Amino acid sequence: MSRHSAATELEPIERASPAELRALQWQRLQWSVRHAFENVAPYRRKCQLAGVGPADLRSCADLARFPFTEKDDLRASYPFGSFAVPRAQVVRVHASSGTTGKPTVVGYTQRDLDTWASLVARSIRAAGGRAGDVVHIAYGYGLFTGGLGAHYGAERLGCTVVPMSGGQTAKQVQLICDLQPDIIMVTPSYMLAIVEEFARQGLDARASSLRIGIFGAEPWSEAMRAEIEARAGLDALDIYGLSEVMGPGVASECLETKDGPVIWEDHFYPEVIDPHSGAPLPDGARGELVLTSLTKEALPVIRYRTRDLTMLLAPSARPMRRMARISGRSDDMLIIRGVNVFPSQIEELLLKLPGLAPHYELELTRAGPLDQLTVRVECLASAGGDAALRARLGAELRGSIKARVGISSEVLVGDPGSIERSAGKARHVIDRRGKP
Ligand code: DLL
Repeated sequence: MSRHSAATELEPIERASPAELRALQWQRLQWSVRHAFENVAPYRRKCQLAGVGPADLRSCADLARFPFTEKDDLRASYPFGSFAVPRAQVVRVHASSGTTGKPTVVGYTQRDLDTWASLVARSIRAAGGRAGDVVHIAYGYGLFTGGLGAHYGAERLGCTVVPMSGGQTAKQVQLICDLQPDIIMVTPSYMLAIVEEFARQGLDARASSLRIGIFGAEPWSEAMRAEIEARAGLDALDIYGLSEVMGPGVASECLETKDGPVIWEDHFYPEVIDPHSGAPLPDGARGELVLTSLTKEALPVIRYRTRDLTMLLAPSARPMRRMARISGRSDDMLIIRGVNVFPSQIEELLLKLPGLAPHYELELTRAGPLDQLTVRVECLASAGGDAALRARLGAELRGSIKARVGISSEVLVGDPGSIERSAGKARHVIDRRGKP
């Protein structure tokens, strides 16, 4: 059998008819809403304030009548107040890194961990992974869900796991060379750092054993996919998730189509809403992704506002709907002199310029009443010593930002390696404007 003839290996629900899928979702949705209402006191209070309860849920569409769950709700009940089961049944916690204030603690029962492992296994299989493959995991292990989430999923699929975690870039390369993994799971930005380290050691990443990369945990563009595929010589697939909803594996892309992550709708009910009014939007309209867990025991989330901007797309390789690549987070959107800008727009533009490396930083300052955007980017090693070429690249990028995004900026093209690398999620924005 060919390695990529996945059809015979799919779970029954991955081959179900739309009607079968909807029936399962509906049955699970009723359970989940009741479970949260009966066992999560803060959510029950929100429902009571809104005058709704489980009896008002007569179809999936009625979910729109229920209140949202927000990150602040989880913060307010820190650490365990949103758990729906006694703490002793929670066998694992993770926490999302609060950039400000307290982190959010999330919990899992043994069954939740089983579900999570099976969904990550499904995601790796969708990406082309099979039992027996060697999987190198360079997502961070610990409170972050990336490392352990990927780890248990890869084990569940029957893979040989290399639990490398993030950091120690030279050692990442050594282990890849020595252990010959088929698959790497890592943030896209750290993958680029690993590819650079190959070159620094005089090696060609394209010649490595890696044939699949499963990348997520931060926004990345189609241009970045092309860049990584070309430089690392592998198929780059998108995996999506967030701690509050589970971790990696809420949605994941299929190798045969590479057309956006499939939302594993047998476990999550997706909606897209207008981020300002909260009104549900039809499939195909871009807005904020809202997710309801259908099977989670320890931390059921009803209508969780992810802040991630995307749209729902019709099913393709699976009967479940897909999500478009995330264009940014509603709270990441920069307003520069009144213009809405997502870092990913600038990433797309700089990747179009041969000679520039995909490492960048956007710094915002304020001079009097005016916002100033400084784009710091690196040139490729080939352009390193050539001041005229660097100046031309800078001018070209400034011109395309002005033309495509509509704002003036200063572009500084630095030496290779001048932008700090992260071993996890890259930090692209430094906002020094302070509060207005
Ligand atoms: O980043 C979970 C994860 C780990 C996903 C490994 C994929 C791979 P958090 O730290 O809670 O969890 O951050 C979640 O990261 O709301 C998105 O804004 C962003 N994000 C995650 N995956 C993607 C992706 C993990 N594929 C937040 N594309 C989410 C764009 C992503 N953004």
